[in-house]
Amino acid sequence: MPDRFEILHKDLAGRIGRLSTLHGTIETPALMPVVNPHLPLIPPNEMEKMGADMIITNSYIIHQDPDLRVQAMERGLHDLLGFSGPIMTDSGAFQLSVYGDIDVSPLEILNFQFAIKSDISVPLDIPTPPDVTRERAESELKITEERLVQAASLERSALLACPIQGSTYPDLREKAGRFARDLPFDVYPVGGVVPLMEAYRYRDLVEVVTAAKKGLGSGRPVHLFGAGHPMIFALAAAMGCDLFDSAAYALYARQDRYLTVQGTGKLEEMSYLPCCCPVCQEHTLKELMESPQKTRLLAQHNLYVSLQEMKQVKESIREGSLWDLLETRCRSHPRMLDGLKRLSGQGPWLESLDSASKSTFFYLSPEAACRPEVMRYARRIDRISLQGNVLITDDSQADTSGFAHVLHFKPPFGPYPVELSETYPFNAEVPEEADDAAMKQALKITKDLIRANPGAKFRFRLKNREMEELLRREQTIAGAIQGE
Ligand code: GUN
Ligand code: ZN
Repeated sequence: MPDRFEILHKDLAGRIGRLSTLHGTIETPALMPVVNPHLPLIPPNEMEKMGADMIITNSYIIHQDPDLRVQAMERGLHDLLGFSGPIMTDSGAFQLSVYGDIDVSPLEILNFQFAIKSDISVPLDIPTPPDVTRERAESELKITEERLVQAASLERSALLACPIQGSTYPDLREKAGRFARDLPFDVYPVGGVVPLMEAYRYRDLVEVVTAAKKGLGSGRPVHLFGAGHPMIFALAAAMGCDLFDSAAYALYARQDRYLTVQGTGKLEEMSYLPCCCPVCQEHTLKELMESPQKTRLLAQHNLYVSLQEMKQVKESIREGSLWDLLETRCRSHPRMLDGLKRLSGQGPWLESLDSASKSTFFYLSPEAACRPEVMRYARRIDRISLQGNVLITDDSQADTSGFAHVLHFKPPFGPYPVELSETYPFNAEVPEEADDAAMKQALKITKDLIRANPGAKFRFRLKNREMEELLRREQTIAGAIQGE
């Protein structure tokens, strides 16, 4: 097959892509609802109507049920489940991580997935949990990698996934990513992260996913195993995850939990259904609670909001405003904010992937002071070459006569040539009153500009007198150093 993954648009490390399978091409990022082959809470053909382009099921569960196994072998997976689009199958590795043992060999379960015509098969990896000893993480990774090499050598017509493990050791994750990059696979799932998400450890999640991505490079499609809560789609997509699987829509429904992009509500503690999906339009909260179909209806709502959020993520990527969505979503939980901070700490990496032209930069929170656009500008500030009298001002009416150069001042960027004020990112919408993070960043960039231009004489006209005084002092210090 020619290139199976094509990238159409980029924002941060996120992208809109197209992934081609034997049952059609899907646009990514995409959410695959998990289908339990025993008792699907929502029938797969209904999922298709709800907007799910692709689903995922568990080949191990099918394999262990004699009836299902025969049916799947005879009719194929698509006919068995009643879904005409692409179907991914998992290998039972997750059962392995929960129950400690499964009674099927790696080769057997992989060949079974091929035989039932899975569109994306997954070899039997070992999902190493977080925080294990390094020795265990390394030895389990070695076994996973031996199985991957074996899997890669098999004859196949459909796509094959290459799970990336390594527990909470970023260097092992990066190494696993590099290893995977050199093998002929089609999709690269980051595995072993469910316990991190269950414990709200989003900072560690960002750490391991970005490490795996660095090793893997940016061209391959990445699946984040077990990421099904819509709250984290923006964050995961911003790191360059392209596929998501959701069992959450059903698991939460079984516990009377109502998903929203801000988090999870408990039905009995709610008063309204704050959503416009068909379920929430056609039922009051009371009707929903009293319905004999409660779990199924709630699962439908949960899936609707998840699919809708995926569309929102795509729209934001297309528009170049994924960062804004990220900031909004990450404000729904303090630990999400930790995740966002960790991601903004990956400045150089993000910057290397982030495409340059976008919709207007909105400064909405202190995290934006470290956005890739700001970091990029900070790193290149010494390229601005100035001689003679230079005015730095935030007053567009300021008297500029007698100055060789005029720079406008806007936190978090600090000074930039006035000619660029209508261009991205300097046309940013920022608050009237800058916060400390924006001021600190602007101050640092201004200092670097002053130091890079010893031949220039800077003057400042700023509304913020304190800032003006700080910069004036900086100019004096720089001058004194020059004069030594
Ligand atoms: N489902 C959730 N996590 C994992 C994982 O690490 N590997 C596999 N194969 N499936 C998973
Ligand atoms: Zn709803």
